[in-house]
Amino acid sequence: MQRREFNQRLKHSAIALALMPWLSAVAAPADKPRVWRSNPFALGVASGRPRPDSVVLWTRLLFGEHDRAAGIDALRVQLEVFADAALQRRVYQTEVATNEARAHSVHVHVQRLQPSTDYWYRFRQGNALSTVGHTRTAPALNADVQELRIALSSCQHYEHGQYIAHAEIAKQQLDFVLFLGDYIYESSNPQYAVRKHSSDEPKTLAQYRERYEQYKRDPMLQAAHAAHPWVLMWDDHEVVNDYANDQDRQYTDPQQVLKRRAAAYQAYFEHQPLLLGPDPDLPANMRLYDQLSWGKLADLWTLDCRQYRSPQACRDPVRGGGRMVVQCDELSDARRSMLGLAQERWLTQRLSPSTAQWKLVAQATQISSTSIPTPVGRSYWNDAWDGYPQARQRLLQTVVDAKLNNVVTLGGDVHCNVAANLRLEPNNPQSPIVASEFVTTSITSRGLGDKPAALIRDSNADLLHYRSDERGYSLITVTPTQVRCDFRTTKFPAGTEAELKTQASFMVKSGQAGPLLV
Ligand SMILES: [Fe+2]
Repeated sequence: MQRREFNQRLKHSAIALALMPWLSAVAAPADKPRVWRSNPFALGVASGRPRPDSVVLWTRLLFGEHDRAAGIDALRVQLEVFADAALQRRVYQTEVATNEARAHSVHVHVQRLQPSTDYWYRFRQGNALSTVGHTRTAPALNADVQELRIALSSCQHYEHGQYIAHAEIAKQQLDFVLFLGDYIYESSNPQYAVRKHSSDEPKTLAQYRERYEQYKRDPMLQAAHAAHPWVLMWDDHEVVNDYANDQDRQYTDPQQVLKRRAAAYQAYFEHQPLLLGPDPDLPANMRLYDQLSWGKLADLWTLDCRQYRSPQACRDPVRGGGRMVVQCDELSDARRSMLGLAQERWLTQRLSPSTAQWKLVAQATQISSTSIPTPVGRSYWNDAWDGYPQARQRLLQTVVDAKLNNVVTLGGDVHCNVAANLRLEPNNPQSPIVASEFVTTSITSRGLGDKPAALIRDSNADLLHYRSDERGYSLITVTPTQVRCDFRTTKFPAGTEAELKTQASFMVKSGQAGPLLV
């Protein structure tokens, strides 16, 4: 993005740029402090996009019945940032405007912070205070970092269970949470419902907002946001199951899909600690892919696998989207892309020259193959990278061409814990292992049955670990000598008391591609 365009978008986005940190001289609100009947900070607080000198802080005000009756539009919200948990040493404060058009969401880009430093923050409006959030900045770019701790998570269908994984994440010592997608689900599965969605499938902005309101009210999810900065990616369910760019499973008119996508992206932005929202000129477009550096220890790329992808190959003419395909010639079409050519180029240009000890490529789904043999040839799941084999090969060829070692990919979406070897030719022992893959299971969303999971595991030699029967998250610990993955799981998070255990642990040693069982 050109600098001018970036500035233009910043101006248009619902971001209050905090340009005067360390000063506390902020104009007092002109109006009298509002007296709230119920606390409007009902959706909690969040921080995200950690950089050596900045973070984005978020909240959204939501009004109770009595307060809503007063018809509130424009509001000013105060933010305070502290250097200590006791909130004694205030290092920054500001006041920002919000209104109904942005669902009273608040995004503050706090700049000129110190690297590798803890901060605490809270919002205030009238007589109401938010909970206190904790965040932490990234290390300086040239810092010799000895450890990076990430909670890897994805797929939190509200109806399928309690967010006990988030309760544990909230208590962990972490640098950040990396959420890989499926933050909300648009669809319901009543047969698995531990608790229910309170509204019908969202299609409009108002309906998507309502869905986020329900998810964001969950106290365990709020605790995980309040405890750590989050680095966010999306997958399909933030819009609609299995969408690909402007196509959905029903072959809806692409213009209608884009309209729905614009509503979904706007609601996504309004509920997350992000710097940029939808493009004001093209609101169905929103730049989410990003790069984050953790000193000299790791570079991390967070990719967008939905907005720019080619439609799934060999779709059913009646119901499109994901399915198993056999004898599908379209798979070998080199023009097809998972990331879109612009994002592919962007990644290649940054991955190839990276000098970080570890190169972490986070994407929404699974890169290793889960194909199964059938009497008429192998059958491939066309919604994951198996459905984009040429794009997968381009990605791995980049690793080979740049002679990169220490590339680890991180994924979600498939509701499975996976540790896998990545080869240019999947499952071919003659083809060298060029990178390592960890995929985390879902926070709550139901996984594949035991039988198909066993068939997939037995049919793909590259899968060193493949389990779909448990829910949870993965703790990724990066040090100069290894990347370790602890799969933290429980059988079924139906109750709020369930506890997680370690299902398995793997590590990747520096200089040696391929996960090893610990
Ligand atoms: Fe999912």
